Amino acid sequence: MFEKYLDIHAVMELRMRSLVYFGCGAISKMRDIAKSLKSRGIERVLLVTSRRAYRTSGAWEPTLAALDAEGLDYVHYDKVTPNPTTTSIDEATAIGKQFGAKAVIGIGGGSPIDTAKSVAILLKYPNETGESLYEWKFTAEKAVPIVAINLTHGTGTEGNRFAVASVLHKNFKPAIASDAIYPTWSIDDPELMLSLPVKQIRYTSIDAVNHVVEAVTSKVTNPFAISLAREVIALVHQYLPVAMADPKDLVARYHLAYAALLAGVSFDNGFLHFTHALEHPLSAVKPELTHGLGLAILLPAVVCEIYPNCGAVLADIFASIVPGLKGTPDEAKMVAIQIEKWLFEMGADHKLADEGYTAEDVTRLVKLTFATPSLPALLGAAPIEATEEVVKRIYTSSMEPLV
Ligand SMILES: [Fe+2]
Repeated sequence: MFEKYLDIHAVMELRMRSLVYFGCGAISKMRDIAKSLKSRGIERVLLVTSRRAYRTSGAWEPTLAALDAEGLDYVHYDKVTPNPTTTSIDEATAIGKQFGAKAVIGIGGGSPIDTAKSVAILLKYPNETGESLYEWKFTAEKAVPIVAINLTHGTGTEGNRFAVASVLHKNFKPAIASDAIYPTWSIDDPELMLSLPVKQIRYTSIDAVNHVVEAVTSKVTNPFAISLAREVIALVHQYLPVAMADPKDLVARYHLAYAALLAGVSFDNGFLHFTHALEHPLSAVKPELTHGLGLAILLPAVVCEIYPNCGAVLADIFASIVPGLKGTPDEAKMVAIQIEKWLFEMGADHKLADEGYTAEDVTRLVKLTFATPSLPALLGAAPIEATEEVVKRIYTSSMEPLV
């Protein structure tokens, strides 16, 4: 029913640029990727990872074997943390620069891959830093080739042009967007995701849900973003409980990974707004807060705010979680409550107060939302005017459960 709201004269940019090898066993495609790197004259690469997952997942050995088979030399940076920082980006860039790396391979979830994307830019801009990149001091128009070996099913970064990092000393967690950082090749191999613990299964999947909720309700959404979103929410609704009950269920992992990739493409097309713009200050202030939990905390209040303007499309994409919706403004509160109920059932049952935020923090969070580079751009894509009052109301309503 959302179709009647579309402007058929609006010319869309349909974005799907990366070549993604998807499926169980996709890591074997590293051989082809290494060959392609070699054929481009690339002989030295930088590997970017966090401390452990690259090994425990099973991704490391086949990657090194593929590089060795083609005679590619590599250097390894393994200090990426969750909620990655510009400090890590600068350290990894320095190592890559010194080694003469001409491509970057990120292995891990969003943090190592986004760090790899950022380093790939900085290797082309030797006078810039992670901080100048994330404070938007220059326009990133080029990067060395990026390979993303994705080990989680949430960020979608393996299929889009976004990256995120924190400038710790300023409590900023901005995002960047550049056509230069579509990974040239990505690998989504569900078998490498089996070691993700239940908590990560939950929050990465909830991240994917938030990506599409924002993508379909932004001012720049398009039918492609919406079609993908329907599939994403249906798949997460069906397979998230299965994967949490049995983390070794490979079929469930496959569909969650597919949903997360589609969600990444969906928001590459439809963009993001409130939930991500307001979550970034939360995890910038408390880096230990999981991104997906921050989003889960905010989502019901965001839906409550935007539903009167976007009811048709939300009713459509949420059909599996809240069936029978008409999309009318009077449903807003009820839908928000039902979504919170679903999130709680999935185990995402914390609110801001449970994470240690108080009413006194709200002023600071509102300030950071508007002061952090890139977040005003996200707010500008929101379907209703993102005034300080609206942002404050979302944070305040997210302190405690709606019911
Ligand atoms: Fe996200």
